[in-house]
Amino acid sequence: MKQVKGRQELISAYIDFFKSKSHKEVPNSPLIPQNDPTVLFTTAGMHPLVPFLLGQKHPLGTRLCNVQKCIRTTDIDAVGDKFHLTFFEMLGNWSLGDYFKSESIEYSFEFLTKVLGIPLDMLSVTCFKGDKDAPADKESAEKWKKLGVKEDRIAFLPKEDNWWGPAGKTGPCGPDTEIFFWVGKGKAHGNPGVNPKDWAEIWNNVFMQYEKKEDGSFQELKQKNIDTGMGVERTVATLNGNESVYDTDSLLPLIKKTEELSAKEYNDETGKSMRIIADHIRASVILLAELVSPSNVEQGYVLRRLIRRAVRHGRTLGIAGNFTHLIAEEVFKIYPDYASIQKNKDFIIKELKAEEERFSEVLEKGIRYFERLKETIKGKVIDGKTAFLMYQSCGFPIEMTQELARENGFEVDIVGYEKEQAMHQELSRTATEGKFKSGLADNSEATTRLHTATHLLDSALRQVLGSHVEQRGSNITAERLRFDFSHDEKMTPEQIREVEKIVNENIGKQLDVKREEMTVDDAKKLGAIGVFEHKYGEKISVYTICDPKNIYSREICAGPHVTNTKELGKFKIRKEEASSKGVRRIKAVLE
Ligand code: ALA
Repeated sequence: MKQVKGRQELISAYIDFFKSKSHKEVPNSPLIPQNDPTVLFTTAGMHPLVPFLLGQKHPLGTRLCNVQKCIRTTDIDAVGDKFHLTFFEMLGNWSLGDYFKSESIEYSFEFLTKVLGIPLDMLSVTCFKGDKDAPADKESAEKWKKLGVKEDRIAFLPKEDNWWGPAGKTGPCGPDTEIFFWVGKGKAHGNPGVNPKDWAEIWNNVFMQYEKKEDGSFQELKQKNIDTGMGVERTVATLNGNESVYDTDSLLPLIKKTEELSAKEYNDETGKSMRIIADHIRASVILLAELVSPSNVEQGYVLRRLIRRAVRHGRTLGIAGNFTHLIAEEVFKIYPDYASIQKNKDFIIKELKAEEERFSEVLEKGIRYFERLKETIKGKVIDGKTAFLMYQSCGFPIEMTQELARENGFEVDIVGYEKEQAMHQELSRTATEGKFKSGLADNSEATTRLHTATHLLDSALRQVLGSHVEQRGSNITAERLRFDFSHDEKMTPEQIREVEKIVNENIGKQLDVKREEMTVDDAKKLGAIGVFEHKYGEKISVYTICDPKNIYSREICAGPHVTNTKELGKFKIRKEEASSKGVRRIKAVLE
């Protein structure tokens, strides 16, 4: 077996292999989906590719691959064990209506057994068993057998195991075949259907041939796609015989730094807190690198939860004083290839220090309050009012109060907490979580129109306020657009009116909205603006809003957009407010 020591080696081997099979590397997209208001984070490599899986033409063709940063928040509270991660990197290769099952399985087989040199005996696979929505996937099983996989190493499993997607409520999905590596004791035997604990999943090949609809039905897609995912940390750990992802080069330096700061060894007693710090600060750094700031809503709230939970566990280990920024320094070293991190180091450190300081001031008070509560409370339930108080006056995110309660054998009355919170008009926890569960990009006409209006707004803001204005985030629903941009001061009423006027004039001019494909370098030469981190020479799509004489806006963007601004109606700014330091937020509608 070839020794793959760390993340960079695995990533290069994977990308090089798929490039040799005529795949083009697509950028590692931002963690905050740029055109999808229904989810907080990119959760899989396929996520930024949804429009293309549904049939839109991709500028780089029909064979793609990349490594994608992902955040999954559904089990943040499970982080602390040896396996769960909030942030992880996913390798993927895609066929957009190009090759299907046979080649996909061949590529995976060749990469694992030839490039990585894994003995076939160490592998097993699973295939979809079939149900009322789709037949059993005999074709994949036959293909595996042809390649030499023994029958007893193939398990047929139901939808819970062998079906992937949609990422939200609706969207592309399909049966999958998953590949497992032997992690049991002694000689490899059985399969994930027989002795699942002995097998670790390393790769998932999804046959995206259905679209799940609102009514729950599965419709065959015209374009049959391949979507695969291989977790970098998990695969590196497995190939190196590590017991845990925290032993890989993506996380071990962070554990070591925590040992140093706490003057304690990483062992069964300290392990949980050390793993929480390593995972949470790594994820926080990568989020901060995208200029998210801790706050009480949406992505900012997740970030706040991560930092505060890490700080609490730091104190549990006896680390005094600000320490999260010291862990961040180690994260910078692990990801020299992430331009967003390297560029924003100062911002990351500043924000970590500020949030840690803010929380440290009240953390002690919160712990003391909780200790007193423990003595006086009757029964085992902490009522909603008290939990809300812990949040409001001690800055304890509710999940942290729940964790603290559990550690001490109590429960929190979460319904009571939510009632209390609703009364205070704070973001409801269920609303945040609903976001993770709801559907993917809604490309309705209303959101498409608002998306084009966002480009006109961006350009009008630069015209009125100056060229320092840059997009810091965008979120569009069918009702309104929300646009965050860098600017230090509150806009005056005159400036707001001026921006509205420019946007409406441009709508009135009936300007064409044109999509072109070009290299990033050409786009830059043409003065296109955009927020993606693209590689030199790569092809991307650029939307230009223009008439024969003038260009009003030119942005690197995946779309979709209307074809002429006359479709937009009347633009109105409803609100202009601070979003975080140096960032303003506009909410606007089309009437
Ligand atoms: N999208 C698939 C996954 O996340 C490949 O596992």
